Amino acid sequence: MKIVTLTMNPCIDRTLWVDRFGDPPIRIDRMSGGKGVNVARVLTALGEDCTAITYSAGDTGKEFEELARGEGVRLIAVPVQGSTRIIDTYVRTDDYSQQVVRQAGPVLSEDELSAIRQAVINQLSGCSVLAVCGSASCSGGARLIRELIETAKSMGVRTLLDSNGEALIEGSQAIPDVLKVNEDELSQLIKPSGDPLHSEANRLTTEQGIGRVLLTCGAKGCIQFLWEQASFCPAPKIDCINAVGSGDCFTAAWLHAQIRGFTDDGALMIASAAGAANAMKFPAAMITREDIEKITGFKWI
Ligand SMILES: Nc1ncnc2c1ncn2[C@@H]1O[C@H](COP(=O)(O)OP(=O)(O)OP(=O)(O)O)[C@@H](O)[C@H]1O
Ligand SMILES: [Mg+2]
Repeated sequence: MKIVTLTMNPCIDRTLWVDRFGDPPIRIDRMSGGKGVNVARVLTALGEDCTAITYSAGDTGKEFEELARGEGVRLIAVPVQGSTRIIDTYVRTDDYSQQVVRQAGPVLSEDELSAIRQAVINQLSGCSVLAVCGSASCSGGARLIRELIETAKSMGVRTLLDSNGEALIEGSQAIPDVLKVNEDELSQLIKPSGDPLHSEANRLTTEQGIGRVLLTCGAKGCIQFLWEQASFCPAPKIDCINAVGSGDCFTAAWLHAQIRGFTDDGALMIASAAGAANAMKFPAAMITREDIEKITGFKWI
């Protein structure tokens, strides 16, 4: 089954290893980034037929494309003006503590947004899932996310949204079939009423009509809200060194398990194991089936 991911804020992820913050880096690692690109990389590693759609800008865009393809990602990168952004993560070698420096992505023109829209629509026929992952670099990108989720649904393609900021607010208005949020993202969607955040997540299913909400809470585990039913899956106990990208691994493994016909509980368990496997190593969002199997303790088809 074909899966398409859409990333409206791609980047080059650089990891700069330092002995002390402020020192020159001992080593710099580079990989392609942006949440839909991460999800596509992991889905591909798990044997799924996945295409990542995004845009690419300038010389950094060329480097981004080379990195993604070198990592095995099947990429459709729509050319746009400006520069693909770079995210620099300084990691201290002794304790893996991090400092992150983010650039802003380009503001896309109407023509560029149209080209991305067309690239996605071209891929939707024969596609089983559209997963829209990550933020948008501009308001037009956020609105396009909403529109494309609506288009995909009208074509009978299942939709998953894992986003934040304006893109999350816009995209959730399209009522995706599945919404993956962490606690911070959930609080962007729900006006606090004084009740615990987790009990409020259910309102997204009952009041907004999003059928399935996957709320991930790092080392505390995750909760699935399926209409009015909540089920909790604890996180595996591991030595965490880098949880960045655990949500992307969770999303990829959850989609994989759904496509392979796992039960809902089984899918949550495999997804949690994938998130934990990611947190045990660098770089982010580059796990294999074997990494997940080491945690679950069994192999699957
Ligand atoms: N420290 C940890 N120990 C065990 N499991 C973890 C840990 N951190 C994350 N996980 C697993 O990964 C899942 C997703 O992690 P998390 O909630 O941090 O996602 P996220 O905030 O969306 O991450 P990101 O957006 O950086 O990819 C968790 O529900 C859990 O199953
Ligand atoms: Mg996330």
